[in-house]
Amino acid sequence: MKGSATQLLLLFSLCGAWAQWESQGTEAKETTHKVMRRQTHSTPDIWADLKELRDMVVEQRVELRNMEAKLTDSQKEVEELKKEMTSVRVEMSITKTELELQKTKGEELKTENTALEERMTVSEKVIKDKPKVAFSTALGLEDTGPFNTETQLVYKTVFINIASGYNPTTGIFTASVKGVYFFTYTAVDYRISQNVGVALYHNGKKIMHNYERTGKSDALVSNALLLDLEEGDVVYLRLPSGYTLHCDDTNNQSTFSGFLLFPQ
Ligand SMILES: *[C@@H]1O[C@H](CO)[C@@H](O)[C@H](O)[C@H]1NC(C)=O
Repeated sequence: MKGSATQLLLLFSLCGAWAQWESQGTEAKETTHKVMRRQTHSTPDIWADLKELRDMVVEQRVELRNMEAKLTDSQKEVEELKKEMTSVRVEMSITKTELELQKTKGEELKTENTALEERMTVSEKVIKDKPKVAFSTALGLEDTGPFNTETQLVYKTVFINIASGYNPTTGIFTASVKGVYFFTYTAVDYRISQNVGVALYHNGKKIMHNYERTGKSDALVSNALLLDLEEGDVVYLRLPSGYTLHCDDTNNQSTFSGFLLFPQ
């Protein structure tokens, strides 16, 4: 009797479980089935699954390490790129400064050029407006000296006489403008034992006296100088007493020339 009561109780509880089972949803039932199925042949597979899992973890770890290494590399590359960019930026700013400098220089050159052009125009004007004064003469066919007194020399052969500063009648040059003038002369004599020479005067003042003594051959005296003349100043050559000039041919050996170098 006791045994049949126990059987009855078991049947009841089974029936209750069954009812609960039946009340559960289809999804839950499937999960439970799976669990049950697994649990059925679990013993050999747990180790395999664990091994698989461990392998996976190891693999993941390796991959993670690789990723980390790659990340470090990438970080390094980024750092290098940053550095390069900084240096490029510095270079760019240097280039910019250089360009600005060049631009400034260019502008300075332009200003200089303009100034030069202006000066050139002024110079051109000065050259164009510069008064033209020049004369060149030779003594001509004449034996001159020696005389007891100093004598005025009159150069009769006139090569050029621009602005008519030289007077071929008096032998005197008169400055028509204030400025620096260049003068040159040559005196020749070939007679034996003579004192050859001339004196140059500026407004009645003797500036130079050059001379030479002839021996068996001729003697030649020559010189040149610059003079700062005022308008109306005079320049001429004189033969000192006792000195000679010989020019009895047509070779134009004894000459007197001058020109305005620049006005002041
Ligand atoms: C000297 O000058 C005159 C005038 O210019 C010229 O006629 C003559 O030929 C010149 N003499 C010589 C030798 O050149």
